[in-house]
Amino acid sequence: MIWKVIQNPTLGCNSFLIGDEISGQGVVVDPLAQVGVEAYILSAHDLGMQIIEVLETHVHADHVSCALDLTKELSVPYRISRHAPAVFAFTPLADDTRLHYGALAIDVWETPGHTKDSVSLILYDLARGLDPWAVLTGDSLFVGDVGRPDLVDAGETAVRLAALDQYHSIQRLMTLPDWTELWPAHYGSSPCGGIFMNRRPQSTIGYERRFNPFVHMSDPDIFVEETLRYLKPPPEEAESIRTANLTA
Ligand SMILES: [Fe+2]
Repeated sequence: MIWKVIQNPTLGCNSFLIGDEISGQGVVVDPLAQVGVEAYILSAHDLGMQIIEVLETHVHADHVSCALDLTKELSVPYRISRHAPAVFAFTPLADDTRLHYGALAIDVWETPGHTKDSVSLILYDLARGLDPWAVLTGDSLFVGDVGRPDLVDAGETAVRLAALDQYHSIQRLMTLPDWTELWPAHYGSSPCGGIFMNRRPQSTIGYERRFNPFVHMSDPDIFVEETLRYLKPPPEEAESIRTANLTA
């Protein structure tokens, strides 16, 4: 497999280049404007990877994306959830869809909660086996934490419903095998998470199953209450960044 993680440590962001080394086909996931279109294209060139599509796990509210600019530069599809309220044209991702790029397969799971359009991407190396090897969880499951449910919908009822969605998304992610690598979109002190978010950018499903306090909350009501209890103040610029990411 082709695999490269490009990070912005200041914002606590992970972005990814993932591909099949035999066919050379691959994707970029959650590219960051602060890294820049050119850096992703040069990285793909260095890796011997042709960027077939650009995927996003959700419409981000903490950083400006360069996904749309990257797709325009390369004339490739921009893929985001079918629930994304973007005003520009995109190729929708739907639940339980499998994408193929040579031996790299990616299953799309809708994992709402942080946003309605949140998806997780389960990665398979079909040249080696049929089991998943990693999952990109966006802002659903973090290392030691879960994504906050209050950056889009205001009002206690809407936030509670979003937190309940997050509960079911986390339960679904826990059906993955222990060895599955966990790569969220954020780590450290990212404003998309809470006070328990770990500084490590990566974990495994098995480790989170054992030690993530939110995974241990089997009662959805307790999960919702605890999620709301530990919310940090929302970042001031969230709305303007989200608007920028929703428009061309
Ligand atoms: Fe987010």
